This record gives sequence, C-alpha cells and structure tokens, in this order.
Amino acid sequence: MTSTKGLEGVVATQSAISSIIDDTLTYVGYDIDDLANNASFEEVIYLLWHQRLPKEDELAELKQQLIAHMPVPQEVYDHFKMYPIDKVHPMSALRTAVSLLGLYDEKSEDMSDEANYEKAIKIQAKIVTLVTAFGRIRKGLEPVAPKAELGYAANFLYMLSGTEPDAIEVEAFDKALVLHADHELNASTFTARVCVATLSDMYSGVTAAIGALKGPLHGGANEQVMKMLAEVGSVDNAEAYIKDKLANKEKIMGFGHRVYRKGDPRAKHLREMSKKLTALRGEEKWYEMSVKIEEVFTAEKNLPPNVDFYSASVYHSLGIDHDLFTPIFAVSRVSGWIAHIREQYANNRLIRPRADYTGPGMQKYVPINER
Ligand code: COA
Repeated sequence: MTSTKGLEGVVATQSAISSIIDDTLTYVGYDIDDLANNASFEEVIYLLWHQRLPKEDELAELKQQLIAHMPVPQEVYDHFKMYPIDKVHPMSALRTAVSLLGLYDEKSEDMSDEANYEKAIKIQAKIVTLVTAFGRIRKGLEPVAPKAELGYAANFLYMLSGTEPDAIEVEAFDKALVLHADHELNASTFTARVCVATLSDMYSGVTAAIGALKGPLHGGANEQVMKMLAEVGSVDNAEAYIKDKLANKEKIMGFGHRVYRKGDPRAKHLREMSKKLTALRGEEKWYEMSVKIEEVFTAEKNLPPNVDFYSASVYHSLGIDHDLFTPIFAVSRVSGWIAHIREQYANNRLIRPRADYTGPGMQKYVPINER
C-alpha cells in the first residue's frame, strides 16, 4: 500500500455541489465571480441546498425561515456565562455551542430528509446568534434580537454591534459570505462528511467541521493575517518583516493553496473590498500594507494570496473583533457543510481509508516487571 501525504491529489468522493477546475471555482456550475457580483448569500444557501437558484417566493420563504429560527434557547446564552468567556477562543465556544444546540433540538436524532432540512435551517440561522451573542456577552453586553426586515448579512452586523449597518457594509459582508460558502472537499467539509458517513447526526457533523476549520492552516488563517498586519504596523516595515519570516522558514498566513496554482479566484474580490472599506474608514494603511506584503511575498515565493489574506482587512474595517474572523468563516461555510452532509446522507458509504503502517514488526508482549 502506498500513501499520499495530506491526501494530495486523491479524489475521495463524487459531489455535485462545487468544483475547482483550472483555478475556476463554481457552485453548482455558477462561476464564483458571477455569484459574488450578483447573488445574495441567501440565494447561495438555496443554491447549495437545492442545486438550483430560488424563485422569488422561495427566496422570501428561506429568508423568513432563517430569521424566525435565529433565537436560541436561554440555556445556550447561560452556557456562555459558565466559563471565563474572555479567555476562551470564540471558535472553541462556537464548537461547543453548536453541539449544545443539538441537545435542545428534539429532532436532532431524527434522520429523515424533512428533519434534516429543518435542522439545516435551524443551524444556519442560529449560528449567527451564537457568534454575535458570544461577541457581546464577553463584553458585558446583552445579545441583540434579529430584525425581520434585515437580511442575513445585515442581521449579523446588527446583532453584533447593536446598530444597523450602512448599505456598503452590508454589501461587503454579504459578498464575503458568498465567497466563503463552499469550496469542494476542503478539510472541514471532508471532516463533516467523514463524521456523518457513520450515520451520525448533523449537529455532530457541523461540530466536527468547526473543529477542523479552527486551525491556522485552514479557516484560522484570517485571524493570523490580522495579527501579522498589526505586527508589521506600517508599509515601510513590510519587506523586512516578510523576508525575516521567510529566512526563519516561517509560513506567511493567507498565502498558498493545496489546489489553486495560478491564484485563488476569491482573493481579488476581497482585495477590491479591502481597498474600498479601508478608504471609507480612512485606514488605508491596512490595505496598503497588505498590497506590499503580497508584492514582497509573491516575488520571493511565487505563491498568490488565498481567500483569507484580504478578508482580514475587510473584517477589521467592519469593526469586527479579530478573533471573530474565523467564526464568521464558519457562519458562511456551514451552508456548504450542510449541503455536503445532505449529499453524503443521500448516497452514503462509510468513509474508512487505510494507513501505510510504518511501525515496528511483530513483537511479543513483555510482562511489566521484565521490561
Ligand atoms: N508561506 C511560506 N511558504 C509556504 C506557504 C506560505 N503561506 N504556503 C506554502 N509554502 C511553501 C511550503 O513551505 C513548502 O515549501 P517547501 O516545499 O520548500 O517545503 C511548499 O510551499 C508547499 O507547501 P505545503 O505546506 O506542503 O503545501 P500544502 O498544499 O500542504 O498546504 C496550505 C497548503 C494552504 C496549508 C499552505 O499553503 C499554508 O500553510 N498556507 C498558509 C495558511 C493559510 O493561509 N491557510 C488558508 C488556506 S485557504
């Protein structure tokens, strides 16, 4: 048996949800550029879950259902107060909170299609409340209830800050959600599929996926990018900073990709948004530093930025705490996880690969007093 480190190049499943072919990303056959420029996040959720774009009434119904299901049981808020919330990473809190939600859903073990669709709506809706309530409760603020007249992206920003966002903020955030929604068999999506392929429930699949997304080689990279930008501090420091890191064989977060070779098609949209939003805030330095880092890094390594690089300065410009960047990734990607979980259930087989054993040969047990 031979193994491939990191399963590079291994085709592990068939899927009709999203594809990466020749550096073009599509959701159900729609180019991500087309969707980023035209579709709302709710349309994308519908697309991923139904494999077609919604008609007006279908979209209106989905929007209404998502808002109706945003409230969470009081016990979930209470649990945020049970531990030193200011010392907990929000991705750890989110992982536990999604698992906890499953305990309060009487249909969590019901594996029918109908129950799973209901769970899909509930999880997609409630994840907004989990992230925003956590962000507020740790500052001593009360959670904010959603407004029926706002869309998904606007509600997220409103429920986090307590004030209604500007149209330009909503547009940027909505686009960021569209861009992060699905990405073929990325690590967290694969994790979700492996989990539910045992016929475990949807809450378990999403909880497992959040754990996988958290790491800095995956979704956790966006928070690390912001940390780097803060350390760099000014455009003038960027070149020396990057060269120093590379000389120490350190990775630069927000660059490189397992699949893309020429570039991540999502990055250009975020770069454009970063330019616009940082200018609006009068904080152009975050964009300018990012551009300089890209210039220096790509000259050294010839690896283009990925989705996480410019999303950092976008979220920062929206006034979002840096450790909430990865939870926001989860708020969007959960739509893709759910699509993949449902696809897995619809045509399931246990996912159980083999390992190329490299340990010692056969050994005889030695009693403890003879070792
Ligand atoms: N900074 C510096 N070097 C990088 C790099 C980065 N961000 N990404 C890849 N490389 C280098 C590696 O050091 C390695 O060089 P070597 O062959 O000389 O040892 C080579 O490129 C291949 O990298 P590897 O980590 O094996 O590629 P991978 O396909 O396993 O990993 C990522 C892909 C995304 C995990 C990797 O590019 C990375 O760690 N990027 C930073 C984290 C990040 O932004 N993650 C978000 C992804 S959307």
